[in-house]
Amino acid sequence: MNRRQFNRTLALAATTPFIQGRAQPLPYRVNGDRLNRSLRALSSFGRNDLGGVDRVAYSEADLRGREMAMGLMQSAGLSVRIDYAGNIIGTRPESASGLPILALGSHIDSVPQGGNYDGDVGALGAIEVAATLADQKIPTRHPMEFIIFANEEGGQTGARAMAGRLAATDLERVSNSGKTLREGIAFIGGDPDRLDAAQRKPGELKAYLELHIEQGPVLDAEGVQIGVVEGIVGIHRWMVTVTGFSNHAGTTPMDRRQDALLAAAEFIQLVNRRVRAESGRQVGTVGWMEVEPGAPNVVPGKVRLTLEMRDLDWPKIDRIFGRIRLEAEEISSRARVKFGYEEIYNNPPRLTDPGLQEEIRASCHELGLSHKLMPSGAGHDAQSLSHIVPVGMIFVPSQNGISHSAEEFSAPDAITNGANVLLHTLLKLDQEAG
Ligand code: HGY
Ligand code: MN
Ligand code: MN
Repeated sequence: MNRRQFNRTLALAATTPFIQGRAQPLPYRVNGDRLNRSLRALSSFGRNDLGGVDRVAYSEADLRGREMAMGLMQSAGLSVRIDYAGNIIGTRPESASGLPILALGSHIDSVPQGGNYDGDVGALGAIEVAATLADQKIPTRHPMEFIIFANEEGGQTGARAMAGRLAATDLERVSNSGKTLREGIAFIGGDPDRLDAAQRKPGELKAYLELHIEQGPVLDAEGVQIGVVEGIVGIHRWMVTVTGFSNHAGTTPMDRRQDALLAAAEFIQLVNRRVRAESGRQVGTVGWMEVEPGAPNVVPGKVRLTLEMRDLDWPKIDRIFGRIRLEAEEISSRARVKFGYEEIYNNPPRLTDPGLQEEIRASCHELGLSHKLMPSGAGHDAQSLSHIVPVGMIFVPSQNGISHSAEEFSAPDAITNGANVLLHTLLKLDQEAG
């Protein structure tokens, strides 16, 4: 999808006549205290001394956090299973058979030194919706699944498996836990040799809703309570290898070195320059690097680093990447090093469903919550799921737009607002015929 298509859809979404919400909002509300208490409890799994979490997927902390979440699902009256990809799926028993499934959820794995809200708000928010349905004996028609996806931070592994988009080659990639995806999926109770059985059939799901923190500054800066997500940026990642020649740091003259780290430093500057050279919201990041042999008295002979670029306009990312590779050739001839590129992640930009956007807006209207249509600069499980089911996303504000950090914070009442919008939107969808 290119920017023009995306903008045309935005224009449509922004001008679509607003579905007049009911005169009276549904009387139901989630238990915000219970939800925020659960979030605080979850944040103890993998807590680090920065006040955030290291609950990377497939770690002991992830396993313990998953056990806690499964306990919450059971207390909410759900029957709980782990699918072959390691996704946790809570199913609400009271539902008519033959109707397509309404799904909602998110993830609870974190980035290294992550925050206490990314993914957790949507995962536990969905469970709170299930608990509210049970507590208040709210009748529902469609089967409902409350999902905690595995390894969202490592490339939406569980969601991609559910969408049939996980390649066998992906299983050998090493996750933040140090386990390969294959080892990690088995570690959390999945079966990496039966991922095809984790894939959902066309038509099986009616819609997928995800509540999530914005992870950016817009809602907080503008004082808007809810974000109605229009689309999710594409994420393209490469492993870049810079190969020079290791040599003695004391005896190798400066003009005779093939210093891979010096060349990598120039490359990182090049990425920043190239990404900023074009107008638009694209972003480019080098977030991880490994230096070999990594000794103070050896000229580095080899560097591996990750290059990640994101934008709603997919061809633009390819164009910028092409320019970076071209200019890197100058670095390589000057520094007598070689650059190698391996694509390690390719998740194209995805639109959310305009109909679901309207249902979310109607819920905000009925609940008296200010809201705005907006894109997501972060990737989400909904991005992968959107290949097999219409998706809708609900954002709540992130204080100062900080995320992937111990400073990540969303206010308890903002989280409760988001969970109420999730509940009301789910109930609207449940009242639809098919
Ligand atoms: O990387 C992301 O955008 C998401 O937080 N996993
Ligand atoms: Mn997330
Ligand atoms: Mn994240």
